[in-house]
Amino acid sequence: MADELTPETPEEEQPKKTHKQRKNGLYPGVSDELAESMRTGWADTELHGLEPIAQASHTAARRAALSARFPGDRLVVPAGRLKTRSNDTEYPFRAATEYAYLTGDQTENGVLVLEPAGETGHTATLYLLPRSDRENGEFWLSGQGELWVGRRHSLTEAEQLLGIPVKDVRTVADELKEATGPVRVVRGHDSVVEAALTDKVTGERDEELRVYLSEARAVKDDFEIGELQKAVDSTVRGFEDVVKVLDKAEATSERYIEGTFFLRARVEGNDIGYGSICAAGAHACTLHWVRNDGAVRSGDLLLLDAGVETHSLYTADVTRTLPISGRYSEIQRKIYDAVYESQEAGIAAVKPGAKFRDFHDASQHVLAEKLVEWGLLEGPVERVLELGLQRRWTLHGTGHMLGMDVHDCAAARTEAYVDGTLEPGMCLTVEPGLYFQADDLTVPEEYRGIGVRIEDDILVTEDGNRNLSAGLPRQADEVEAWMAHLKG
Ligand code: GLY
Ligand code: MN
Ligand code: MN
Repeated sequence: MADELTPETPEEEQPKKTHKQRKNGLYPGVSDELAESMRTGWADTELHGLEPIAQASHTAARRAALSARFPGDRLVVPAGRLKTRSNDTEYPFRAATEYAYLTGDQTENGVLVLEPAGETGHTATLYLLPRSDRENGEFWLSGQGELWVGRRHSLTEAEQLLGIPVKDVRTVADELKEATGPVRVVRGHDSVVEAALTDKVTGERDEELRVYLSEARAVKDDFEIGELQKAVDSTVRGFEDVVKVLDKAEATSERYIEGTFFLRARVEGNDIGYGSICAAGAHACTLHWVRNDGAVRSGDLLLLDAGVETHSLYTADVTRTLPISGRYSEIQRKIYDAVYESQEAGIAAVKPGAKFRDFHDASQHVLAEKLVEWGLLEGPVERVLELGLQRRWTLHGTGHMLGMDVHDCAAARTEAYVDGTLEPGMCLTVEPGLYFQADDLTVPEEYRGIGVRIEDDILVTEDGNRNLSAGLPRQADEVEAWMAHLKG
């Protein structure tokens, strides 16, 4: 900044130097002797003969399918950039789903480019930042240097691991500016890449790319199914961890539950796949309660909706509604059993050839029946469903696609998703719920403040479905027995 000021700029108009500049200048205080010392004396740590990552053949197949869908177009898929949390601290980086899906890589600033080649095909190139330069001191002087944030792969190493030719990302913007012919970019992740393409892309073409990449992920390959099962298995262990510390949560708050689950997610996976919903008591009626700062009281229910995200970025999405004391009260169990019955009906409707909406309709039918039976709604049930009256207490849809995003395939067209047909390899949640708000004067007092959701991750198979989260009990007696066992 100071370099841009003319010498005539009066002293008092000079920008005040920041603490960091006063202390360090730009990269000041580096004598020639120190610079030379830092340049030299380092062993060659290049890694040789690296095996490709487990999903390399799958990412190649995904790129081939993408190439076939958009012949002749240059396709640009960025990983995204670090996002500032405050001042000079950033949020943990999480690569864009489309990028990780097509490359298996998760490096910030990475860009995948599929360049048209021949009549119909493409040549894939991955643009990444190389290892920090030792010549210019970047490796120890830059905040993104190796001695600050850790070693990056060399471009040759990345090529071996990912099975894609790799180039230096610092050239990508210029290369894209020079590119001729139609271009499509996945928007919303990298403003630098988008700026380089402003006069080459159209919203309509980019949207087609986004939609394709959403729909392509609906049917999971073997690698993805294995990762989803791993995510769920870790999640099951995370739920067990929580049950074991419910007494500590009672002494503190819902945060103890959040922290306990997070520990499992970070130790076994990459992260949590979404903000954990640790909702005790009436908080269970707030669908996305992620403040998690409330009291945990014996006698109340705990609605825990949480999922571990694996290192390859596949997430589970599981909910259990647990009696904090270990035993459901009569009214809690009545509501819980209704939701369980509804979920059973929903899961039974998940099979190849069924419409996506079928499991929702099956679940809602049961809930509407219960609400009529309990006298909260006037029948007949078909009228209730036609008018959607049950929704006062069911609030949300009964499930969604699951994968690298918790609400996966979100850009898919209606006809391919909510109006679509289930196929083997699709994975979805079945998660009916009933929520009686604490201030709902239309229900008897004993219902108020009770919220129940049960959510499982269901894989569509050739002959029906498989519940990936069957490792966690759902039926009320089984939940109580499981909790008693864990609490010891
Ligand atoms: N965890 C958010 C959901 O269940 O959709
Ligand atoms: Mn869900
Ligand atoms: Mn959920």
